[in-house]
Amino acid sequence: TTHKVGYLIGSLAKASINRKLATALVQLAPPELEMSEISFKDLPLYSYDYDADFPPVARAFKDAIASVEAVLFVTPEYNRSVPGGLKNAIDWASRPYGKNSFARKPSAVIGTSPGTIGTAVAQQSLRSVLSFCNSPQMNAPEAYIQFTPGLITDSGEVTVESTEQFLRNYMAEFHMFIARVLQVLPKDA
Ligand code: FNR
Repeated sequence: TTHKVGYLIGSLAKASINRKLATALVQLAPPELEMSEISFKDLPLYSYDYDADFPPVARAFKDAIASVEAVLFVTPEYNRSVPGGLKNAIDWASRPYGKNSFARKPSAVIGTSPGTIGTAVAQQSLRSVLSFCNSPQMNAPEAYIQFTPGLITDSGEVTVESTEQFLRNYMAEFHMFIARVLQVLPKDA
């Protein structure tokens, strides 16, 4: 059976190295995973003033998350956390109260940065947020990818064989994790 996976790219930059990583992950994912990007760039800044009546762009965003069985976060580290745009998107999806789109939805976190820490601190921060949002998270493998020049091409080709294998295995593990979680959670949970 196949599983729909939505992925969120934390960066809005045109030349984003995390977008390159996401492109690679789509290509390395096992055929059972149907990968589609969920964009958040057009969301306004969230306030609970919107809770009574979400704007269409926010409804569409929540619908997109509702329509997938799992979510993959591919995020840079900005100032030792996730970019504000991604946090804003998560806040939108978590509301209104009682309509948290992430509840019981399996997720995984990955990211790349030119620094050796490879987004580890941002990922830890994101994991706290996802815990509160009651998303079952893949604990392992973790993936802290240091982006050396040319590591992944714009078209998503990974130029280092060991990294390609690592990322392929990461997606295979994510597939198994999703299957395990969905086995114990009813679809309408
Ligand atoms: C960064 N960068 C960065 N890198 C890191 O490893 N830890 C950090 O805390 C930060 N902080 C940070 C803040 C801001 C505002 C910017 C713009 C950048 C560097 C960052 O890893 C680098 O710009 C990557 O290219 C960002 O990923 P994307 O946006 O290209 O996918």
